[in-house]
Amino acid sequence: MLLRFGLNAEIVFNKDIAPEAANAVGAVVLEANELLFRRGVPAEVSENEVGRITDWSVSGNTLSIKIESGPYTRAHDAFLRFKKAVTPVMGKHRLGVRGIEVRNFSISMKGEIPKSAIPKLPMISDVTIEEDGIVLHLSLSLADLEKKLPDRLVKLVEEKIEAEAYGGKAEHWELLYESPKRPLHYDKNPSDELLKIGWAKHGASRGQWIFGPQAVELIRALETIAVEEIIKPLGYKEMIFPKLVPWDVWKQSGHAKGVYPEIYYVCAPKSRDPAYWEDVSDYYKVTGDVPVEMIRDRIEGPIGGMCYAQCPPFWPFVKGETLSNGCLPIKVFDRSGTSHRYESGGIHGIERVDEFHRIEVLWFGTIEQTVRTADLLHEAYTRIFDEVLELEWRCAKVTPWFMAQEGLVGVSDTSSVGTRDYEAILPYNGDWLEFQNVSVNGNKYPKGFNVKIQSGEECWSGCSGIGLERWTAAFLAQKGFDRSKWPESVLKLVGEPEDVFEFL
Ligand code: SER
Ligand code: ZN
Repeated sequence: MLLRFGLNAEIVFNKDIAPEAANAVGAVVLEANELLFRRGVPAEVSENEVGRITDWSVSGNTLSIKIESGPYTRAHDAFLRFKKAVTPVMGKHRLGVRGIEVRNFSISMKGEIPKSAIPKLPMISDVTIEEDGIVLHLSLSLADLEKKLPDRLVKLVEEKIEAEAYGGKAEHWELLYESPKRPLHYDKNPSDELLKIGWAKHGASRGQWIFGPQAVELIRALETIAVEEIIKPLGYKEMIFPKLVPWDVWKQSGHAKGVYPEIYYVCAPKSRDPAYWEDVSDYYKVTGDVPVEMIRDRIEGPIGGMCYAQCPPFWPFVKGETLSNGCLPIKVFDRSGTSHRYESGGIHGIERVDEFHRIEVLWFGTIEQTVRTADLLHEAYTRIFDEVLELEWRCAKVTPWFMAQEGLVGVSDTSSVGTRDYEAILPYNGDWLEFQNVSVNGNKYPKGFNVKIQSGEECWSGCSGIGLERWTAAFLAQKGFDRSKWPESVLKLVGEPEDVFEFL
């Protein structure tokens, strides 16, 4: 895409700029255009594409600057370089910078840009649509220039155009393995049966279940198989990850880029003084209704959300650290709580819910260790699904979960980085249910949380999510409730189902 940047800014000094000082500015401008702005730009790039001060003037204590650029030493970058060069020169004339105002900033982008790719953001004060592109007029501060906000805006528009182009296409999906076919034992939806026989009931909140003792026996049996037959033999140690995730973690994990439609948000009270809340309790006592609007006034904005992907809140444990060669690869897992996703209309049975239980397996080390660890895990899963649980399942390479959760599509650029989804057939409707995944996440998390390894090599990480409700849904959908059809491995972990509750 053809890019042009334009900037007008004023540098205000503590006193009037005398003619000698103005002459000195002229010299800095010349040098900036000839040398400073060319620094780091390939020699073959034409003058027109590089940042250039096209106009400047002095009036009283104010130096006005106009800069134009193509994609090299972009106007904001050029301005910062110029500011750094001119400040000491003016210092020699006893002039100190008192303030900097960015008067205008524009980005012109040429190419096919659909309207939907133009962001609606407070710093975009105006948009001009032209025949061959758009011009964004921005109101920016010096701090915004330092944060390279114009570059990020360009990237955002490019991403939106790309997403649009991908829009119609299905998510990436590429078959890697298919298990043998299995005899059909059951053809109903097991969630309906769970409800009918009273092993589970809907929770009071949407997409939430209360599992009775008989259902939990099976869920825990499957969990035991995962932990005792796969996770522990492979050397993973148990940890407890937090389940309330603050924005900082999601900024570093990338989730802050796209997870908003699916988060369960968490807010803290503005005060824990009972007097501050008294009218809320009184209102409830008198009306029997919880006054949600009154509560809204008394809570802070969300500090983050409930556990979503499970592994991001692990990373602060190693943030900023360098790990010794001897302890690598690190292999840990967490099964300490629920994950929450606002699924809206997508809720289905026990397998697609707003609140679910998952074992999250996480590892990191060198690139080689990380890829090998993923392969070993995959081999162990394959053995368990084929030989122990005797499931009909398949495995496919899909859009990496961390890209999907950031709202991106397609696959990663590095072939060994990516997600494998494990899917089981649901005989009652012929659909395939994704019941777990294994991912090599590349350097994304070590980089995001600044984690290094002793050898100085690049650090990679991986993770695998085992959805317990989904294992259960897949198992029951294929094996049904007649225990004579259940594999021995599961049978020996569950007792005869006992009816603890007798409803009259
Ligand atoms: N963190 C991964 C995911 O969210 C695996 O659980 O899919
Ligand atoms: Zn994960």
